[in-house]
Amino acid sequence: MKNKKLWGGRFSDATSQITEQISASLHFDVRLYKHDIQGSIAHARMLANQGMLTQDDCNAIIKGLQTIQKEIEEGTFPFNEKLEDIHMNIEARLTELIDEAGKRLHTARSRNDQVVTDVRLYLKDEIKDIQKLCVDLIQKLIKKAQENKQVIMPGYTHMQIAQPVRFSHHLMVYAWAYLRDLKRLRFAFSTADVLPLGSGALAGVNYATDRHYVAKELEFGTVAHNSMDAVSDRDFIADFLYFAAMAGMHSSRLAEDLIVWSTAEFNFIKLCDSVTTGSSIMPQKRNPDIAELIRGKTGRLYGNLISLLTVLKGLPMSYNRDLQEDKEPLFDSIDTVKLVFKGMAEMIEHMTVNEDITKKAIYKNFSTATDVADYLVMKGIAFRQAHEIVGSVVKYCEKNNKNFFSLPLEELKKFSEKFDADIYEYLDPEKSTERKKSYGSTSLDSIENQIKLLIEQLHEFNH
Ligand code: ARG
Repeated sequence: MKNKKLWGGRFSDATSQITEQISASLHFDVRLYKHDIQGSIAHARMLANQGMLTQDDCNAIIKGLQTIQKEIEEGTFPFNEKLEDIHMNIEARLTELIDEAGKRLHTARSRNDQVVTDVRLYLKDEIKDIQKLCVDLIQKLIKKAQENKQVIMPGYTHMQIAQPVRFSHHLMVYAWAYLRDLKRLRFAFSTADVLPLGSGALAGVNYATDRHYVAKELEFGTVAHNSMDAVSDRDFIADFLYFAAMAGMHSSRLAEDLIVWSTAEFNFIKLCDSVTTGSSIMPQKRNPDIAELIRGKTGRLYGNLISLLTVLKGLPMSYNRDLQEDKEPLFDSIDTVKLVFKGMAEMIEHMTVNEDITKKAIYKNFSTATDVADYLVMKGIAFRQAHEIVGSVVKYCEKNNKNFFSLPLEELKKFSEKFDADIYEYLDPEKSTERKKSYGSTSLDSIENQIKLLIEQLHEFNH
Protein backbone atom coordinates (compact mmCIF):
# COMPACT_ATOMS: atom_id res chain seq x y z
CA MET A 1 0.00 0.00 0.00
CA LYS A 2 3.00 2.29 0.50
CA ASN A 3 3.14 3.21 -3.16
CA LYS A 4 -0.55 3.83 -3.48
CA LYS A 5 -1.20 7.20 -5.12
CA LEU A 6 -2.88 9.82 -2.98
CA TRP A 7 -5.21 10.39 -5.92
CA GLY A 8 -5.66 6.64 -6.66
CA GLY A 9 -9.30 6.19 -5.59
CA ARG A 10 -10.86 5.91 -9.06
CA PHE A 11 -8.08 3.80 -10.65
CA SER A 12 -7.94 -0.01 -10.89
CA ASP A 13 -4.60 -0.46 -12.66
CA ALA A 14 -1.23 0.87 -11.66
CA THR A 15 0.48 3.56 -13.74
CA SER A 16 3.16 2.34 -16.12
CA GLN A 17 6.83 2.86 -15.58
CA ILE A 18 7.15 5.47 -18.30
CA THR A 19 4.21 7.40 -16.85
CA GLU A 20 5.96 7.48 -13.53
CA GLN A 21 9.20 8.59 -15.17
CA ILE A 22 7.55 11.39 -17.10
CA SER A 23 5.47 12.49 -14.11
CA ALA A 24 8.32 12.51 -11.63
CA SER A 25 9.43 15.92 -10.51
CA LEU A 26 10.72 15.06 -7.05
CA HIS A 27 14.35 15.24 -8.14
CA PHE A 28 13.97 18.95 -8.83
CA ASP A 29 11.00 20.15 -6.82
CA VAL A 30 12.49 18.76 -3.61
CA ARG A 31 14.04 22.16 -3.17
CA LEU A 32 10.56 23.55 -2.44
CA TYR A 33 10.21 21.45 0.73
CA LYS A 34 10.64 24.29 3.24
CA HIS A 35 8.16 26.54 1.48
CA ASP A 36 5.71 23.66 1.02
CA ILE A 37 5.80 23.09 4.77
CA GLN A 38 5.51 26.81 5.48
CA GLY A 39 2.46 27.03 3.20
CA SER A 40 0.84 23.97 4.78
CA ILE A 41 1.29 25.31 8.30
CA ALA A 42 -0.41 28.59 7.36
CA HIS A 43 -3.19 26.64 5.63
CA ALA A 44 -3.72 24.39 8.69
CA ARG A 45 -3.87 27.40 11.00
CA MET A 46 -6.45 29.02 8.79
CA LEU A 47 -8.56 25.82 8.72
CA ALA A 48 -8.45 25.69 12.53
CA ASN A 49 -9.37 29.38 12.87
CA GLN A 50 -12.31 28.86 10.57
CA GLY A 51 -13.49 25.81 12.52
CA MET A 52 -12.71 23.29 9.77
CA LEU A 53 -10.01 21.58 11.79
CA THR A 54 -9.84 20.96 15.54
CA GLN A 55 -7.04 22.68 17.41
CA ASP A 56 -5.65 19.23 18.32
CA ASP A 57 -5.50 18.17 14.68
CA CYS A 58 -3.92 21.49 13.74
CA ASN A 59 -1.25 21.07 16.42
CA ALA A 60 -0.58 17.50 15.29
CA ILE A 61 -0.23 18.67 11.68
CA ILE A 62 2.21 21.44 12.60
CA LYS A 63 4.26 19.12 14.78
CA GLY A 64 4.28 16.46 12.06
CA LEU A 65 5.40 18.97 9.43
CA GLN A 66 8.17 20.18 11.70
CA THR A 67 9.35 16.60 12.15
CA ILE A 68 9.32 16.17 8.38
CA GLN A 69 11.40 19.31 7.88
CA LYS A 70 13.92 17.96 10.36
CA GLU A 71 13.98 14.57 8.62
CA ILE A 72 14.62 16.20 5.25
CA GLU A 73 17.36 18.43 6.62
CA GLU A 74 19.01 15.56 8.45
CA GLY A 75 18.80 13.28 5.41
CA THR A 76 16.55 10.65 6.98
CA PHE A 77 13.32 11.45 5.10
CA PRO A 78 12.03 8.38 3.20
CA PHE A 79 11.71 9.94 -0.27
CA ASN A 80 9.63 7.96 -2.73
CA GLU A 81 9.89 8.83 -6.44
CA LYS A 82 6.62 6.99 -7.08
CA LEU A 83 4.81 9.70 -5.17
CA GLU A 84 5.63 12.09 -8.03
CA ASP A 85 6.53 15.30 -6.28
CA ILE A 86 7.58 16.91 -3.03
CA HIS A 87 4.01 17.85 -2.11
CA MET A 88 2.81 14.21 -2.23
CA ASN A 89 5.90 13.00 -0.46
CA ILE A 90 5.36 15.37 2.43
CA GLU A 91 1.63 14.68 2.66
CA ALA A 92 2.10 10.91 2.54
CA ARG A 93 4.74 11.05 5.27
CA LEU A 94 2.53 13.32 7.38
CA THR A 95 -0.25 10.74 7.24
CA GLU A 96 2.23 8.03 8.14
CA LEU A 97 3.30 10.07 11.17
CA ILE A 98 -0.05 11.38 12.45
CA ASP A 99 -2.59 9.30 10.58
CA GLU A 100 -6.14 10.73 10.36
CA ALA A 101 -5.20 14.37 11.06
CA GLY A 102 -2.69 14.29 8.18
CA LYS A 103 -5.49 13.34 5.82
CA ARG A 104 -7.42 16.47 6.78
CA LEU A 105 -4.71 18.93 5.74
CA HIS A 106 -5.64 18.95 2.08
CA THR A 107 -9.16 20.25 2.81
CA ALA A 108 -9.95 23.43 0.86
CA ARG A 109 -6.86 23.37 -1.33
CA SER A 110 -5.53 21.50 -4.34
CA ARG A 111 -2.04 20.75 -5.55
CA ASN A 112 -2.65 23.31 -8.28
CA ASP A 113 -2.85 26.23 -5.89
CA GLN A 114 -0.38 24.59 -3.52
CA VAL A 115 2.47 24.19 -6.01
CA VAL A 116 2.34 27.72 -7.32
CA THR A 117 2.17 29.08 -3.78
CA ASP A 118 5.34 27.18 -2.96
CA VAL A 119 7.13 28.48 -6.05
CA ARG A 120 6.14 32.06 -5.26
CA LEU A 121 7.30 31.75 -1.65
CA TYR A 122 10.55 30.17 -2.76
CA LEU A 123 11.24 32.72 -5.46
CA LYS A 124 10.56 35.66 -3.16
CA ASP A 125 13.23 34.36 -0.77
CA GLU A 126 15.69 33.77 -3.60
CA ILE A 127 15.09 37.25 -5.00
CA LYS A 128 16.13 38.73 -1.65
CA ASP A 129 19.46 36.88 -1.85
CA ILE A 130 19.99 37.71 -5.51
CA GLN A 131 19.31 41.38 -4.84
CA LYS A 132 22.10 41.40 -2.23
CA LEU A 133 24.53 39.81 -4.70
CA CYS A 134 23.65 42.35 -7.37
CA VAL A 135 24.05 45.27 -4.94
CA ASP A 136 27.42 43.87 -3.90
CA LEU A 137 28.57 43.66 -7.51
CA ILE A 138 27.50 47.25 -8.16
CA GLN A 139 29.36 48.41 -5.07
CA LYS A 140 32.52 46.66 -6.30
CA LEU A 141 32.19 48.39 -9.68
CA ILE A 142 31.78 51.76 -7.98
CA LYS A 143 34.80 51.13 -5.78
CA LYS A 144 36.95 50.16 -8.74
CA ALA A 145 35.74 53.22 -10.65
CA GLN A 146 36.58 55.46 -7.69
CA GLU A 147 40.05 53.96 -7.31
CA ASN A 148 40.76 54.58 -10.98
CA LYS A 149 39.14 57.96 -11.42
CA GLN A 150 42.33 59.46 -12.83
CA VAL A 151 42.99 56.66 -15.33
CA ILE A 152 42.48 57.63 -18.95
CA MET A 153 41.92 55.13 -21.73
CA PRO A 154 40.68 55.08 -25.30
CA GLY A 155 36.94 54.88 -25.72
CA TYR A 156 35.81 52.80 -28.69
CA THR A 157 33.06 52.72 -31.23
CA HIS A 158 33.05 49.93 -33.81
CA MET A 159 35.97 48.54 -31.76
CA GLN A 160 38.08 51.40 -33.19
CA ILE A 161 39.70 54.00 -30.95
CA ALA A 162 37.29 56.93 -30.93
CA GLN A 163 37.94 59.44 -28.12
CA PRO A 164 39.74 59.40 -24.78
CA VAL A 165 37.52 58.52 -21.81
CA ARG A 166 38.09 57.86 -18.16
CA PHE A 167 38.36 54.21 -17.15
CA SER A 168 35.83 54.94 -14.39
CA HIS A 169 33.33 56.19 -16.98
CA HIS A 170 33.58 52.93 -18.88
CA LEU A 171 33.20 50.84 -15.71
CA MET A 172 30.23 52.85 -14.46
CA VAL A 173 28.33 51.85 -17.60
CA TYR A 174 27.90 48.45 -16.01
CA ALA A 175 26.92 49.86 -12.64
CA TRP A 176 24.03 51.68 -14.34
CA ALA A 177 23.09 48.54 -16.27
CA TYR A 178 23.00 46.42 -13.11
CA LEU A 179 20.98 49.11 -11.36
CA ARG A 180 18.36 48.70 -14.09
CA ASP A 181 18.51 44.94 -13.46
CA LEU A 182 17.75 45.61 -9.80
CA LYS A 183 14.64 47.50 -10.85
CA ARG A 184 13.57 44.57 -13.03
CA LEU A 185 14.22 42.24 -10.10
CA ARG A 186 12.06 44.38 -7.85
CA PHE A 187 9.29 44.17 -10.43
CA ALA A 188 9.62 40.37 -10.54
CA PHE A 189 9.29 40.35 -6.74
CA SER A 190 6.11 42.39 -6.94
CA THR A 191 4.49 40.04 -9.46
CA ALA A 192 5.52 37.03 -7.34
CA ASP A 193 4.02 38.63 -4.23
CA VAL A 194 0.44 37.41 -4.80
CA LEU A 195 -1.14 34.52 -2.88
CA PRO A 196 -2.82 31.81 -4.99
CA LEU A 197 -3.49 29.37 -2.10
CA GLY A 198 -7.15 28.70 -1.39
CA SER A 199 -8.15 28.88 -5.05
CA GLY A 200 -8.53 25.09 -5.09
CA ALA A 201 -8.16 23.24 -8.36
CA LEU A 202 -9.56 26.16 -10.38
CA ALA A 203 -13.01 27.23 -9.22
CA GLY A 204 -12.48 28.19 -5.60
CA VAL A 205 -13.49 25.94 -2.69
CA ASN A 206 -16.73 25.03 -0.93
CA TYR A 207 -15.57 26.30 2.42
CA ALA A 208 -15.63 29.68 4.09
CA THR A 209 -11.86 30.04 4.10
CA ASP A 210 -9.87 33.14 4.99
CA ARG A 211 -7.36 33.66 2.23
CA HIS A 212 -6.39 37.08 3.53
CA TYR A 213 -5.33 35.51 6.81
CA VAL A 214 -3.14 33.04 4.91
CA ALA A 215 -1.62 35.88 2.87
CA LYS A 216 -0.72 37.69 6.07
CA GLU A 217 0.75 34.56 7.63
CA LEU A 218 2.92 33.96 4.56
CA GLU A 219 3.74 37.64 4.08
CA PHE A 220 2.17 37.98 0.65
CA GLY A 221 1.39 41.56 -0.35
CA THR A 222 -1.92 40.61 -1.92
CA VAL A 223 -4.30 37.77 -2.79
CA ALA A 224 -5.08 36.51 -6.32
CA HIS A 225 -8.55 37.77 -7.26
CA ASN A 226 -9.42 35.08 -9.80
CA SER A 227 -9.05 31.42 -8.81
CA MET A 228 -8.52 30.29 -12.41
CA ASP A 229 -5.86 32.92 -12.99
CA ALA A 230 -4.28 31.94 -9.66
CA VAL A 231 -3.54 28.37 -10.77
CA SER A 232 -2.57 29.26 -14.36
CA ASP A 233 -0.48 32.40 -14.01
CA ARG A 234 3.27 31.95 -14.36
CA ASP A 235 4.00 35.53 -15.45
CA PHE A 236 6.01 36.12 -12.30
CA ILE A 237 8.43 33.38 -13.36
CA ALA A 238 8.76 34.89 -16.83
CA ASP A 239 9.43 38.28 -15.19
CA PHE A 240 12.22 36.78 -13.16
CA LEU A 241 13.66 34.88 -16.13
CA TYR A 242 13.65 38.10 -18.15
CA PHE A 243 15.55 39.85 -15.37
CA ALA A 244 18.06 36.96 -15.35
CA ALA A 245 18.44 37.04 -19.14
CA MET A 246 19.14 40.78 -19.05
CA ALA A 247 21.58 40.45 -16.16
CA GLY A 248 23.30 37.70 -18.16
CA MET A 249 23.47 39.90 -21.22
CA HIS A 250 25.05 42.73 -19.21
CA SER A 251 27.47 40.33 -17.59
CA SER A 252 28.49 38.85 -20.92
CA ARG A 253 29.26 42.32 -22.27
CA LEU A 254 31.33 43.17 -19.21
CA ALA A 255 33.02 39.76 -19.45
CA GLU A 256 33.86 40.45 -23.08
CA ASP A 257 35.44 43.81 -22.16
CA LEU A 258 37.51 42.10 -19.47
CA ILE A 259 38.59 39.37 -21.88
CA VAL A 260 39.66 41.85 -24.55
CA TRP A 261 41.41 44.12 -22.05
CA SER A 262 43.39 41.24 -20.60
CA THR A 263 44.84 40.11 -23.95
CA ALA A 264 48.56 40.67 -24.64
CA GLU A 265 47.50 43.02 -27.46
CA PHE A 266 45.49 45.36 -25.21
CA ASN A 267 47.02 44.61 -21.82
CA PHE A 268 44.81 47.25 -20.16
CA ILE A 269 44.07 45.14 -17.07
CA LYS A 270 45.31 42.16 -15.15
CA LEU A 271 42.78 39.70 -13.77
CA CYS A 272 43.94 38.13 -10.53
CA ASP A 273 45.13 34.53 -10.23
CA SER A 274 42.03 33.43 -8.33
CA VAL A 275 39.81 33.95 -11.40
CA THR A 276 42.17 32.83 -14.17
CA THR A 277 43.44 29.39 -15.11
CA GLY A 278 46.45 27.88 -16.81
CA SER A 279 46.69 25.66 -19.84
CA SER A 280 47.55 21.98 -19.61
CA ILE A 281 49.92 22.28 -22.56
CA MET A 282 51.05 25.93 -22.87
CA PRO A 283 52.96 26.86 -19.72
CA GLN A 284 52.78 30.63 -20.27
CA LYS A 285 48.99 30.81 -20.53
CA ARG A 286 46.75 32.74 -18.21
CA ASN A 287 43.22 32.28 -19.41
CA PRO A 288 40.18 34.36 -18.41
CA ASP A 289 38.00 31.23 -18.06
CA ILE A 290 35.67 32.70 -15.48
CA ALA A 291 34.89 35.67 -17.70
CA GLU A 292 34.38 33.28 -20.63
CA LEU A 293 32.08 31.01 -18.62
CA ILE A 294 30.03 33.97 -17.44
CA ARG A 295 29.74 35.09 -21.07
CA GLY A 296 28.76 31.52 -22.02
CA LYS A 297 26.20 31.09 -19.24
CA THR A 298 24.13 33.83 -20.80
CA GLY A 299 23.06 31.16 -23.29
CA ARG A 300 21.20 29.15 -20.67
CA LEU A 301 19.70 32.30 -19.13
CA TYR A 302 18.18 33.17 -22.50
CA GLY A 303 17.21 29.53 -23.07
CA ASN A 304 15.34 29.33 -19.78
CA LEU A 305 13.23 32.37 -20.64
CA ILE A 306 12.37 31.00 -24.07
CA SER A 307 11.68 27.60 -22.57
CA LEU A 308 9.05 28.95 -20.17
CA LEU A 309 7.46 31.26 -22.74
CA THR A 310 7.14 28.27 -25.06
CA VAL A 311 5.53 26.12 -22.37
CA LEU A 312 2.99 28.86 -21.70
CA LYS A 313 2.16 29.66 -25.29
CA GLY A 314 -1.29 28.44 -26.32
CA LEU A 315 -1.88 26.70 -22.99
CA PRO A 316 -5.64 26.63 -22.34
CA MET A 317 -7.11 27.67 -19.01
CA SER A 318 -6.58 26.67 -16.32
CA TYR A 319 -4.02 24.29 -14.76
CA ASN A 320 -2.37 21.86 -17.19
CA ARG A 321 0.37 19.50 -16.29
CA ASP A 322 2.70 21.28 -18.74
CA LEU A 323 3.08 23.82 -15.96
CA GLN A 324 5.28 21.41 -14.06
CA GLU A 325 7.90 22.32 -16.69
CA ASP A 326 8.13 25.83 -15.20
CA LYS A 327 10.45 24.79 -12.41
CA GLU A 328 13.67 23.54 -13.98
CA PRO A 329 14.26 26.70 -16.06
CA LEU A 330 13.49 28.82 -12.99
CA PHE A 331 15.81 26.89 -10.69
CA ASP A 332 18.57 26.87 -13.27
CA SER A 333 18.35 30.62 -13.79
CA ILE A 334 18.34 31.25 -10.05
CA ASP A 335 21.50 29.16 -9.62
CA THR A 336 23.17 30.61 -12.71
CA VAL A 337 22.52 34.26 -11.98
CA LYS A 338 23.94 33.81 -8.48
CA LEU A 339 27.11 32.28 -9.89
CA VAL A 340 27.39 35.05 -12.46
CA PHE A 341 27.04 37.85 -9.88
CA LYS A 342 29.48 36.23 -7.46
CA GLY A 343 32.07 35.48 -10.15
CA MET A 344 31.83 38.93 -11.64
CA ALA A 345 32.16 40.60 -8.24
CA GLU A 346 35.35 38.67 -7.55
CA MET A 347 36.86 39.52 -10.93
CA ILE A 348 36.09 43.22 -10.56
CA GLU A 349 37.28 43.42 -6.98
CA HIS A 350 40.71 42.03 -7.69
CA MET A 351 41.54 43.27 -11.16
CA THR A 352 44.26 45.85 -11.59
CA VAL A 353 44.51 48.48 -14.31
CA ASN A 354 47.71 49.03 -16.29
CA GLU A 355 47.47 52.79 -16.18
CA ASP A 356 50.59 53.45 -18.26
CA ILE A 357 49.36 51.26 -21.06
CA THR A 358 45.85 52.70 -21.22
CA LYS A 359 47.42 56.18 -21.27
CA LYS A 360 49.76 55.29 -24.13
CA ALA A 361 46.85 53.87 -26.06
CA ILE A 362 45.04 57.21 -26.24
CA TYR A 363 47.89 58.46 -28.45
CA LYS A 364 46.67 56.17 -31.21
CA ASN A 365 44.21 56.60 -34.03
CA PHE A 366 44.01 60.42 -33.88
CA SER A 367 41.90 60.20 -30.72
CA THR A 368 41.56 64.00 -30.42
CA ALA A 369 40.49 64.65 -34.01
CA THR A 370 37.02 65.64 -32.76
CA ASP A 371 38.55 68.05 -30.24
CA VAL A 372 40.55 69.68 -33.07
CA ALA A 373 37.40 70.05 -35.17
CA ASP A 374 35.66 71.64 -32.17
CA TYR A 375 38.63 74.02 -31.82
CA LEU A 376 38.02 75.25 -35.37
CA VAL A 377 34.30 75.63 -34.62
CA MET A 378 35.26 77.77 -31.65
CA LYS A 379 37.29 79.93 -34.06
CA GLY A 380 34.23 80.49 -36.19
CA ILE A 381 34.33 77.68 -38.76
CA ALA A 382 31.14 75.67 -39.41
CA PHE A 383 31.33 72.14 -37.95
CA ARG A 384 30.96 70.32 -41.28
CA GLN A 385 33.82 72.35 -42.73
CA ALA A 386 35.94 71.87 -39.63
CA HIS A 387 35.35 68.11 -39.92
CA GLU A 388 36.55 68.22 -43.50
CA ILE A 389 39.71 70.18 -42.60
CA VAL A 390 40.70 67.83 -39.76
CA GLY A 391 39.99 64.89 -42.06
CA SER A 392 42.59 66.28 -44.44
CA VAL A 393 45.09 66.72 -41.60
CA VAL A 394 44.58 63.08 -40.62
CA LYS A 395 45.04 61.98 -44.22
CA TYR A 396 48.23 64.08 -44.48
CA CYS A 397 49.64 62.53 -41.27
CA GLU A 398 48.84 59.01 -42.41
CA LYS A 399 50.37 59.52 -45.83
CA ASN A 400 53.54 61.19 -44.58
CA ASN A 401 53.87 59.21 -41.39
CA LYS A 402 53.59 62.32 -39.19
CA ASN A 403 52.65 62.47 -35.53
CA PHE A 404 49.22 64.10 -35.38
CA PHE A 405 49.58 65.13 -31.75
CA SER A 406 52.75 67.19 -32.31
CA LEU A 407 52.32 68.43 -35.85
CA PRO A 408 54.22 71.77 -36.24
CA LEU A 409 52.04 74.86 -36.44
CA GLU A 410 53.34 75.81 -39.93
CA GLU A 411 52.12 72.51 -41.26
CA LEU A 412 48.73 72.88 -39.54
CA LYS A 413 48.34 76.39 -40.92
CA LYS A 414 48.44 74.97 -44.45
CA PHE A 415 45.05 73.40 -43.67
CA SER A 416 43.51 76.43 -41.96
CA GLU A 417 44.66 79.93 -41.08
CA LYS A 418 42.64 79.58 -37.88
CA PHE A 419 45.16 77.20 -36.26
CA ASP A 420 47.18 78.96 -33.56
CA ALA A 421 49.60 78.07 -30.78
CA ASP A 422 46.70 77.20 -28.45
CA ILE A 423 45.82 74.20 -30.68
CA TYR A 424 48.23 71.96 -28.73
CA GLU A 425 45.92 72.10 -25.73
CA TYR A 426 43.26 70.57 -27.93
CA LEU A 427 45.49 68.04 -29.58
CA ASP A 428 46.64 66.70 -26.22
CA PRO A 429 44.70 63.46 -25.58
CA GLU A 430 45.40 63.67 -21.86
CA LYS A 431 43.38 66.88 -21.69
CA SER A 432 40.47 65.67 -23.78
CA THR A 433 38.23 64.28 -21.01
CA GLU A 434 38.26 67.55 -19.08
CA ARG A 435 37.04 69.45 -22.11
CA LYS A 436 33.79 67.53 -22.00
CA LYS A 437 31.19 69.89 -20.62
CA SER A 438 27.86 68.17 -21.28
CA TYR A 439 25.82 66.53 -18.55
CA GLY A 440 26.75 62.85 -18.19
CA SER A 441 30.10 63.21 -19.93
CA THR A 442 33.45 61.62 -19.14
CA SER A 443 34.92 64.63 -17.26
CA LEU A 444 35.96 64.11 -13.67
CA ASP A 445 33.19 66.32 -12.27
CA SER A 446 30.62 64.53 -14.28
CA ILE A 447 31.84 61.11 -13.14
CA GLU A 448 31.83 62.19 -9.51
CA ASN A 449 28.27 63.39 -9.99
CA GLN A 450 27.09 60.13 -11.59
CA ILE A 451 28.73 58.04 -8.87
CA LYS A 452 26.95 60.12 -6.23
CA LEU A 453 23.62 59.71 -8.00
CA LEU A 454 24.04 56.00 -8.44
CA ILE A 455 24.92 55.50 -4.79
CA GLU A 456 21.77 57.43 -3.87
CA GLN A 457 19.63 55.26 -6.10
CA LEU A 458 21.27 52.12 -4.78
CA HIS A 459 20.13 52.99 -1.24
CA GLU A 460 16.60 51.75 -1.94
CA PHE A 461 17.97 48.30 -2.69
CA ASN A 462 20.56 48.20 0.04
CA HIS A 463 18.91 46.68 3.09
N1 ARG B 1 4.05 18.61 -9.60
C1 ARG B 1 2.93 19.34 -10.10
C2 ARG B 1 3.44 20.65 -10.74
O1 ARG B 1 4.58 20.91 -10.61
C3 ARG B 1 2.00 19.65 -8.98
C4 ARG B 1 0.61 19.96 -9.41
C5 ARG B 1 -0.05 18.71 -9.89
N2 ARG B 1 -1.42 18.92 -10.19
C6 ARG B 1 -2.14 18.07 -10.91
N3 ARG B 1 -3.34 18.41 -11.18
N4 ARG B 1 -1.65 16.93 -11.35
O2 ARG B 1 2.72 21.37 -11.36
